[in-house]
Amino acid sequence: MMYPTACYKFQRSLTHSKMVTMYGIWCFITVLLFSPVAFSELCNPQDKKVLLQIKKDFNNPYLLASWNPNTDCCNWYCVQCHPETHRINSLVILSSVPQTNLSGPIPPSVGDLPFLETLQFHKLPKLTGPIQPTIAKLTKLKEIYISWTNVSGPVPDFLARLTNLQFLDLSFNNLSGPIPSSLSQLSNLVSLRLDRNRLTGPIPESFGSFKKPGPSLWLSHNQLSGPIPASLANIDPQRIDFSRNKLEGDASVLFGRNKTTQIVDVSRNSLAFDLSKVEFPTSLISLDLNHNQITGSIPVGLTAVDFLQGFNVSYNRLCGEIPQGGRLQKFDVYSYFHNKCLCGSPLTSCK
Ligand SMILES: *[C@@H]1O[C@H](CO)[C@@H](O)[C@H](O)[C@H]1NC(C)=O
Ligand SMILES: *[C@@H]1O[C@H](CO)[C@@H](O)[C@H](O)[C@H]1NC(C)=O
Ligand SMILES: *[C@@H]1O[C@H](CO)[C@@H](O)[C@H](O)[C@H]1NC(C)=O
Ligand SMILES: *[C@@H]1O[C@H](CO)[C@@H](O)[C@H](O)[C@H]1NC(C)=O
Ligand SMILES: *[C@@H]1O[C@H](CO)[C@@H](O)[C@H](O)[C@H]1NC(C)=O
Repeated sequence: MMYPTACYKFQRSLTHSKMVTMYGIWCFITVLLFSPVAFSELCNPQDKKVLLQIKKDFNNPYLLASWNPNTDCCNWYCVQCHPETHRINSLVILSSVPQTNLSGPIPPSVGDLPFLETLQFHKLPKLTGPIQPTIAKLTKLKEIYISWTNVSGPVPDFLARLTNLQFLDLSFNNLSGPIPSSLSQLSNLVSLRLDRNRLTGPIPESFGSFKKPGPSLWLSHNQLSGPIPASLANIDPQRIDFSRNKLEGDASVLFGRNKTTQIVDVSRNSLAFDLSKVEFPTSLISLDLNHNQITGSIPVGLTAVDFLQGFNVSYNRLCGEIPQGGRLQKFDVYSYFHNKCLCGSPLTSCK
């Protein structure tokens, strides 16, 4: 029997580094062929029971075909056991083919794997319903990735209680409603991805009280409105993507000489502020401000941003001479066009 190639067996290296080794189907078969005939099962019986319940709740999808009750669940695809305790610490169900027949809501029994540190559902178009409330019980979780699925309903408030979370990725789903302000209590968060949903309301003021430096914030492709909170002056995320929303007002709080932010994309909003006096961090690698109503001129300080590799201020209301120097002439006309009265290289010279 051929098992689906999309749901890998993951094994984290013993050094707990970010390296993840993937074992393909042949590796799995090799393990089966050369294991002792009467192998002793490492898998915790309670965990095994819960996994079989999950499989049943999903109506025996092809992706979980390797979950055979007669074999050690530590050898099953899509799961991983802790090397010493042998408790299930990772459940990673992902598909690379769109025609996967895994369907329905996330089963409540997912909440009965108390040692889970990683939970992932990825590229499962028939996964529906809300973010399962029993996930609130999984207090050891460090990583949640529920992305490219059709889960709907709100971004639940209970996620704020999972204080070990480092990565929370709920991107490319059908989530709606506001962003819970409680998420700022997640003091270990490195990255927050809520992009590509149908979220409404403001960016919470509380996001300025994330423990410094604060997580990278991916909130693009939603319907977020209102101002960018002034409190965001207090945090220093590596990356900010607020593009394609309905944000208004001032974005200058995202910048400032003392920050170390590298990537900022606030394109395609309704931001309106004077760019002239903004002090940009020299750490910037990419800055995209296109399609807003930004006024003023391009500050000379930008010529000191030595590693700027992406830059776009097109479709705004900027005026005056483009400062000459630094990397600003490495970008072509399309980074500057459709403004009120910008001039100078790479645009036509100011007369
Ligand atoms: C998915 O396919 C497998 C075999 O291809 C079948 O046994 C199972 O019942 C199917 N599940 C659903 C939910 O259609
Ligand atoms: C959600 O379901 C629709 C069809 O009902 C499908 O077209 C879409 O691709 C799905 N979304 C994702 C992210 O899989
Ligand atoms: C997305 O969610 C809305 C309700 O919030 C629902 O009506 C719609 O069917 C969902 N879309 C898909 C493809 O599941
Ligand atoms: C930047 O940092 C310096 C020293 O680290 C400090 O004196 C100054 O007040 C800071 N400026 C801002 C705008 O925070
Ligand atoms: C800048 O953005 C505009 C508008 O989306 C786009 O047409 C242009 O190609 C972009 N420039 C670069 C260099 O990507």
